[in-house]
Amino acid sequence: KWKMGDFVQLEIARIRELVGERALVLGACSGGVDSTVGAKIMREAIGDRFKAILIDNGCMRLNECEEVKETIGEHLGINLTVVDAGDLFMSRLAGVSDPEKKRKIIGSTFIDLFEQEAIRIEKEAENTPNSGKVEWFLQGTLYPDVIESLSFRGPSATIKTHHNVGGLPERMMKGQGLRLIEPLRLLFKDEVRAIGRQLGIHESLVNRHPFPGPGIAIRILGDVTKERVEIARQADHIFISMIREAGLYDQISQAFAGLDTNRSVGVFGDQRVWGYIVILRAVRSKDFMSAEVFNFDNSFLMNVARTICNQVEGVSRVVYDFTSKPPGTIELE
Ligand code: XMP
Repeated sequence: KWKMGDFVQLEIARIRELVGERALVLGACSGGVDSTVGAKIMREAIGDRFKAILIDNGCMRLNECEEVKETIGEHLGINLTVVDAGDLFMSRLAGVSDPEKKRKIIGSTFIDLFEQEAIRIEKEAENTPNSGKVEWFLQGTLYPDVIESLSFRGPSATIKTHHNVGGLPERMMKGQGLRLIEPLRLLFKDEVRAIGRQLGIHESLVNRHPFPGPGIAIRILGDVTKERVEIARQADHIFISMIREAGLYDQISQAFAGLDTNRSVGVFGDQRVWGYIVILRAVRSKDFMSAEVFNFDNSFLMNVARTICNQVEGVSRVVYDFTSKPPGTIELE
């Protein structure tokens, strides 16, 4: 059995060998533990020839973009470019409610932007000591993603199109001859966390709940608009802050607030309002392939519901999702 310490050294050696002396590597950074650990390993292996890209798809959590800039760019010293593409994603998602279509649109928009960035980065590197072609693309794919995408449950079993496995690299590989580099492909989440700590990544990031690449877009049942994302984002921030204040964050594997775009009638003062329904979800899971619902005190949930209705305009009802995985998935879509 391999040890964690050996893993990082072996992986760094493998990456150096694979990438060689000149090639550039592009990587998507979301600020999650996987992409951060992946980026840190790349940085250790090839220094500034690793270029991290953060694409702001307009569906990230509150303040997330700034936090990623600080951790990746400043704290870890990784070369980072932020692409502000919220409006592009929103316009392409307009009127689309089918979950798989949403994922495909988001995935292919990510690729379009990465392709643009690859070209820009090569140009920028010309005539510098680090000039080279972008030949590799980093993905923070974990072992469970690999398994879930392998259709091992039968012919119709690609449960969801994880945009970070499959679709994203395929087109880039064909179009630009990019090859994939996946340092975390053999690891489970808890192993990635252990390696993150070993690499000196801050505990608050290492312990952070996972967040999907498509972001809040797959936590909105129905079509995505800026207004809806903003409501889900505010509700999520309140829920997570209250979880932290109650000292429960580390007991929960993943928690978030999503939005049902069907609306429900409520009364505020003497006014009838027709508002959205916020769905709270919190689960415990070891490997995210199965999960059990987190058992809050009712009084805690009632307090969260009251706070969200009071503070987030446009919400008239808050519900808690009691479905384990299976049959429910962790995300709402
Ligand atoms: P599900 O919803 O499939 O989620 O039970 C299992 C874990 O995977 C995350 N997830 C994703 N991560 N791109 C990602 O990067 C995706 O498209 C995606 N879909 C789900 C989810 O947050 C959970 O931790």
